[in-house]
Amino acid sequence: MFDALIRFIREQYRTDEFIPLHAPVFPGREREYVLQTIDSTFVSSVGAFVDRFEREMADYTGAERAVATVNGTAALHAALLLAGVKPGDLVVTQSLTFVATCNAIAYCHAQPAFVDVDRHTLGLSPTALEDWLDASARLDADGLCRLKQDGRVIRACLPMHTFGHPVELDRLVDVCRRWNLALVEDAAESLGSLYHGKHTGTFGLLGTLSFNGNKILTTGGGGMILTDAALGTRAKHLTTTAKQPHPYEFVHDEVGYNYRLPNLNAALGCAQLEQLDRFVESKRRLADRYAAHLGGSGLEFVRESAGCRSNYWLNAVICDSRGQRDALLKATNDKGVMTRPIWRLMTHLPIYSDCLRGELPTAEWLEARVVNLPSSALVDGDAPSAP
Ligand SMILES: Cc1ncc(COP(=O)(O)O)c(C=O)c1O
Repeated sequence: MFDALIRFIREQYRTDEFIPLHAPVFPGREREYVLQTIDSTFVSSVGAFVDRFEREMADYTGAERAVATVNGTAALHAALLLAGVKPGDLVVTQSLTFVATCNAIAYCHAQPAFVDVDRHTLGLSPTALEDWLDASARLDADGLCRLKQDGRVIRACLPMHTFGHPVELDRLVDVCRRWNLALVEDAAESLGSLYHGKHTGTFGLLGTLSFNGNKILTTGGGGMILTDAALGTRAKHLTTTAKQPHPYEFVHDEVGYNYRLPNLNAALGCAQLEQLDRFVESKRRLADRYAAHLGGSGLEFVRESAGCRSNYWLNAVICDSRGQRDALLKATNDKGVMTRPIWRLMTHLPIYSDCLRGELPTAEWLEARVVNLPSSALVDGDAPSAP
């Protein structure tokens, strides 16, 4: 069972060796730029590559301002603080996500409230959000959205663009505006993905990226906050120990964070950014080949929604049952082809199982069925002949 799929994956990567789920590739000037930082001695928290990486990422995404951070989780934490999330607040998010989304909420001493995901985008459903708000929230005269049952402030909404597939941003922006929720996008997985031609991460008040080693662009470890000019200035201050500019004095005007991305990592990022269009194209070609191969196989390949361009960070299939999912995971991993199930729902983790939630039928259904397939970029443009 699944022999044809395993053969197909081996043909794509042209190897009989172990095939990882997602490996970084360094086809450009990565080595050259990293060596430049060593030669300059500017390997740490200041340096020309940090400024350049931020400028070029803002240009690439169309964000007014991009602020580099030490990882995507730190970017999310800072973004939520900048969105005004305070201890005791609620932040609405999806239960089907990587744990960092919720951890960032917890770092603010706020709590997640979970709503369901959409069957097609795999991300936070605007319908589920609106239904939950209608049932559970009220908009007070002071403009704040509060939980009916105990008056807690529902401060923000934090959708995540699962595996690179954009959530329905137009509708989410609208619901958030009507309920006065700050929209913060966890775009850790979706760098290069577009919703109606505009980059994910640039629709909300703030958006965040991750450059972890498994992402479409890596700096080894790293992240970025995308936002407007004013919040960008605040973001830079908060993530660089809140130090006031001064030629030699150390004056810090709030409890800031040392969330700076080192110049060494930013050098890698600048070189990777030069390759990003190639990575996206390669991954989209691979997704097309998976889709063609899997047609009629009984495994549903997850495609981008209408009006979206997904970066297809991780290719995913939906199995017809948990049994088929387990069989696929076993067959592939036994044969040295790395596949992984989608995350446990956050509501199934003891750390978040007591949190508020709406009905989560789609998240539960997907949790039992989704498997990620090998997705590393093939950058030589070396597509084997079509299946
Ligand atoms: C959805 C999501 N959010 C946040 C993160 C956190 O990013 P990082 O690992 O860079 O802290 C990741 C990836 O790791 C992620 O997939």
